[in-house]
Amino acid sequence: MAFDFADKVLLAPMAGVSDPVMRRLCREQGADMAYTEMVSSKGLSYANDKTRHLIDPAEGEDAVAVQLFGREPATMAAQAAWVQEQLGDALAFLDINMGCPARKIVSKGDGSALMQDPPLAAAVAEAVVRAVDAPVTCKFRRGFRRGDETAPAFARRLEQAGVAAVAVHGRFAEQLYEGASDSGVIARVKEAVQVPVIGNGDIRCGADALAMRRDTGCDAVMVGRAAEGNPWVFADIKAVLAGSEPPAPPTAAERIAMARRHARELAAREGRQIVRMRKHACWYLAGMPGAAKARGLVNQCTSLDDFEDVFDRMEAYAARSL
Ligand SMILES: Cc1cc2nc3c(=O)[nH]c(=O)nc-3n(C[C@H](O)[C@H](O)[C@H](O)COP(=O)(O)O)c2cc1C
Repeated sequence: MAFDFADKVLLAPMAGVSDPVMRRLCREQGADMAYTEMVSSKGLSYANDKTRHLIDPAEGEDAVAVQLFGREPATMAAQAAWVQEQLGDALAFLDINMGCPARKIVSKGDGSALMQDPPLAAAVAEAVVRAVDAPVTCKFRRGFRRGDETAPAFARRLEQAGVAAVAVHGRFAEQLYEGASDSGVIARVKEAVQVPVIGNGDIRCGADALAMRRDTGCDAVMVGRAAEGNPWVFADIKAVLAGSEPPAPPTAAERIAMARRHARELAAREGRQIVRMRKHACWYLAGMPGAAKARGLVNQCTSLDDFEDVFDRMEAYAARSL
């Protein structure tokens, strides 16, 4: 099983965001592959149902990239093997999270804490590579401490451990999401390794993706926040990268229709309570006439009916303001 990373445009793993419905809508708009949100290898090892559900594919999702986090080589290897067994050929590749800067993750030695312990990071990667046939990738940041760029040497070490590709977000872990992502580091990682490099950080549109590819020589690009409430960003990026005319941006009516579809598909999967739709709805509606008021209403919605009600109102409002 191999995955060809050349020229691919990927939806980033995003905890609490890149759920099956979002992945499917982004794939429909042109994303070549989408990652699950990060999944705890420990949670999987306890056979925790809530954690296990995170790897459920979306309806009609032919393949998915699953991201695991954890610092114990044996647990990571065993759970990677379990994920592969569950998904079979639908597992496009398996990614290891070495970039999450959240305090509750780092304090346990997981996520970006692995950047501070390259031998352990390599041991985790090596154990997972040995445990699965699927390609194994690692996603990490420019470095852990602000100003200390370790990503190129870190990438080389992971390449020696057998990973099939690396994804780099051009911020230090200590930066969280502050400041701009540095694409220079992606070029330096590209020079350091032979395996494909996935460039990530601050890609908001086709022009940004083109610049990332041109300036860094990266093989694939990964888009996170720009896809929130905006699966169309992939159609834009794919068109620009192919040198063709990008499609017109979605109208207010199209955005409301997409939000409605997202809510309906989420309800079909999750039942009556779809509180997690709130953030998606706010993103879809942002910038539209009446969006500020809608945000207040959305934040009280719990069921599909509640959301449909807000979308009906927004639709009427958008039609009037044409
Ligand atoms: C809400 C949110 C959740 C995230 N969760 C994850 C995650 O689970 N795993 C991961 O590797 N990165 C995670 N990230 C980081 C993104 O994958 C990506 O690296 C980062 O947002 C930079 O890309 P962007 O500028 O395109 O958003 C998350 C980011 C956000 C905003």
